[in-house]
Parts: sequence; C-alpha cells; structure tokens
Amino acid sequence: MRLSGESLKGKALLDKIRSDFIGIDTPYTNVDGKSTPRIYLDSTASSLMLRPAARITEDFLAHYSNTHSKLHHSAHISTAAYEWAHDRILTFLGADPEVYTCFFIGAGTTGGINRMARVFRDLQPDKDTAIISIMEHHSNDLPHRKHMQNVIHVPVEGLHENKMCISLPKLEAALQEGQGRVNYVSITAVSNVTGIINPIHEIARLAHKYGALIMIDGAQSAAHLPTQLFQADDPEASIDAFVFSGHKTYSPGSPGVVIARMDHLIKIEPEEVGGGMVERVLEDRYQVKAEFPDREEAGTPNIPGAITLATTIEILDRIGMDLLLEEEDEVLTAALTAMGKIPEITVYGGTDTKVCPRAASISFNVQSLDHGLVAAVLNDTFNIAVRNQCFCAHPYVKEMMSEDLEQVFGTINFGDMSPEFMRKAGMVRASFGLYSTREDVEALINALRDIIKNADKYSDHYEINSNNDYVHKTYRPVHAEIFDVERAVDDYLSV
Ligand SMILES: Cc1ncc(COP(=O)(O)O)c(C=O)c1O
Repeated sequence: MRLSGESLKGKALLDKIRSDFIGIDTPYTNVDGKSTPRIYLDSTASSLMLRPAARITEDFLAHYSNTHSKLHHSAHISTAAYEWAHDRILTFLGADPEVYTCFFIGAGTTGGINRMARVFRDLQPDKDTAIISIMEHHSNDLPHRKHMQNVIHVPVEGLHENKMCISLPKLEAALQEGQGRVNYVSITAVSNVTGIINPIHEIARLAHKYGALIMIDGAQSAAHLPTQLFQADDPEASIDAFVFSGHKTYSPGSPGVVIARMDHLIKIEPEEVGGGMVERVLEDRYQVKAEFPDREEAGTPNIPGAITLATTIEILDRIGMDLLLEEEDEVLTAALTAMGKIPEITVYGGTDTKVCPRAASISFNVQSLDHGLVAAVLNDTFNIAVRNQCFCAHPYVKEMMSEDLEQVFGTINFGDMSPEFMRKAGMVRASFGLYSTREDVEALINALRDIIKNADKYSDHYEINSNNDYVHKTYRPVHAEIFDVERAVDDYLSV
C-alpha cells in the first residue's frame, strides 16, 4: 500500500507514540516465578494513559486555577485551556460548533446517558418511549428504563447468521409501531462485547423518519473510529446527542463527555443547577445563562481531566483516525483469523469483518473450560490481562450463549444465580487499543493453544473461592506488596 504524505506523517507519529503509554509494560511475577511485562488486553474496560497528554497536563497544572474568571494570569490560562478542550472535542467528532455544544459530566458515559435521557424526556413529554437494542451496555439501558415510561429492546440479527448487529428492519418496525410515542432511539456505536460496529447514520435516518431523536453511546467508538456527527449534506443522518468516556480514550481520570445539539438543550432548563451556570441570582429567582457550555456545567468541573482528554484527542487527530482504524483493524483481524483456526474456540458475533465490521473487542469461549478459568490462567501464567463474565451486557450475552447453555443445563433460566450457572454463563474478552501489537495477538493465541492442550493440568491447579472465582492453589500474589498507596506516601515522604 502506498502512503500519502499526510498519512506518512501520521504513521511516523503513531510509531513514535505507540509505546508511550504509562504502564504499557508493567512487570508482574507469574506463577513460574518469572517476571514479564504485562500484555494489556482490557482496553474496552479502560485504556492506558497516553504519556505525552499526562505530561502536558502536568505542565498545565503549574498554571492551574479555577475557570470562569479572567482576572489573574492563571485564570486566563486555565479558562483558555478549558475552552479549547471543548472546541477540540467538537472538531474531533465532526460536530459543527454552530449546531452542537460539548460538556463534561461525571466519570464516564453513564452520567451523560442519564442526563440526555432526562433531557429528551423533558423536551418531548408527550412521547414516553425509548428504543434501544439488546446489544447495549447496561449504562445505555437502565437510564432509559429509569427515566422513560417504556423501553423497547430491538433484537439483533439472528443467532444462526451469527451477525449479532442491530436489525435495521426490526428497528424500523418498532419505530413504525410506536410512531407518535417514540421519543428517541439510543444505540451503541460499537458493542463492548463483540466490537461490532453499528451503522449509526442509517439508524439516525430511521429514527428521524419516524419523528424520534437519536442518541449514540460512543463509549467504544470515540477512540477507535473516525466520527462525523453532523452530516451537512444529509441532515436526517446527523446525530442529536453523542456520549463517551475519557477513561476509554487513553485518558484515565478525565470526565465523561456529551456532545448535543444546542437547539434541543436550550429549550429546557439544565437538570443540574449551581455556580457557573447562572447569570444572576436573587432570593426569589435566578436566571440561567444562555451560553453553552456554561449552562450545562454547574459547579467546578474536572479541568485537568478535560485538558488531558482534549490533548489526547489532539494527538489522535494528528495521527489520523482513518489510519488508526486501519492499524487497529490489522491487529483485530489477525486475532480473529488465528482464533478461527482453533476449533476449540467459539468467537461470538460475525467474524467476517466485511459483513460485520468490528473495532477493539473480541469475546470468546474455549470449549469445555469456564470463562473464569481461562481468564485466570491467562493472567497467572502468561501475564495477559483480559476480562471475563458478561461485561454489563446481560441481554446480549444471553442471546449469544443461550443455545450453548441449553446443552449444558437443559432449559435455562437467566435469573439463575447458582454458582454452576454463573461459571458457564459468560465469556472471555480480549480488547485492543492503539498500543496493541501483532506480538500481543501472537502471545494470546499461543497461550490459548497451551491452555487447550494442557486443560486438565491447568484445571487441577485451580480451585473456586467463596466469590465463585477461579484461584490458583499455590500462586497467591500479594498485590499490596506490588503497590500500596499509603506505602507510596511513606516512601515519598522518607526521601
Ligand atoms: C458501550 C458502553 N457504554 C457505556 C459504558 C459505561 O461507561 P462508563 O463506565 O465510562 O460510564 C461502557 C463501559 O464499559 C460501554 O462499554
């Protein structure tokens, strides 16, 4: 493939920063007593911190002060940096600043989805229904159940086709049936279980066609896919609200972010009130500011966190999101292809990425081995960090596992919380970030082959503890010996 001048610059930058993440090679001692650098395949839960962004934030902290004032030098600098953070994120997500605002909220996506569910409810009080899909993370499901009267879960495309992406015909049928009552559709851009990418602009067109608004859970897409929320040539395909997490965008410690159309927000008083969002306060009344984003951000925000995130985004944008997607796709495809060659591994969701494009996550099981055992062995023996269980997406996992579980348990009841059932009802998830390499994939695949080959030996080495977790019978690392906050303080103070 020939690279253009622009992407060559991006490629050189990517090569430079790929290994510049804090904790990318933290060593841990494995079951055999050898210390190896960790292989971090848990980026879907939280990604590692981009070191240059952390450094730039440290530089900023020399000027830290609260915003909303321009009296002294630091207040000028802080306010300008904080305003820049908002603008930077809008540009990154293709959100026209004449149409959209960006505001920070809570610790992640969850706070933003709760807020926007209430905003849409109050904006259209006569429409009491939200449509979501069964592939949603609980954070894009429970807020709608709590804040709306009715929630419809649209199925995914067939178990047997094994595609597991949202069914557009079924979404349209639900919209048609609920026309006049459907307030909004809220769908994830990328599944946190299968990594499957949903066609958000097609979904937006459908929602708008039936008079509903569209909210996108961008928790798993913002760091991995180019995003263009505003579609100038096709307004019906534009997104009304998009929410994502800084901690999943290489910026742990940074807040959640909402990007939403100002013409919706301006129609209702912001949910949260307090300092910073009011023009004038008298004993018997107050006047909310008209300016965005101030009116949406009551109280003192997480200024350093916002600056870390926007700095990270500046760097991602300089690499180029198209290039990042392409590079990450190579790693993901290598993993899918290798897993496809191991008959004992079941990968969930369609694996033909031309039919079912994916980003970042692969969830799988190893025949006859419990997800908890596989994840524990990967950690203890191979120092590979993965996640297991149901990834806060119970309905989706249930959909994909029901046939397998029926074979083991007969008729199944997903309310069953018995330890035996819980040990089977779940998956192992390997997830990737821009720092993940082909070597990481190779290490994962070699480890899985070894686990399959020596399944009995590994099973013998483990027992199940009172939390229903697999623990090695003799290897019991004391994590407080590796890191302990109070000891770190003692060490620091004793120098
Ligand atoms: C798709 C999706 N939506 C929402 C969330 C919730 O994000 P947060 O924990 O940052 O609030 C997650 C977290 O894993 C997620 O993967």
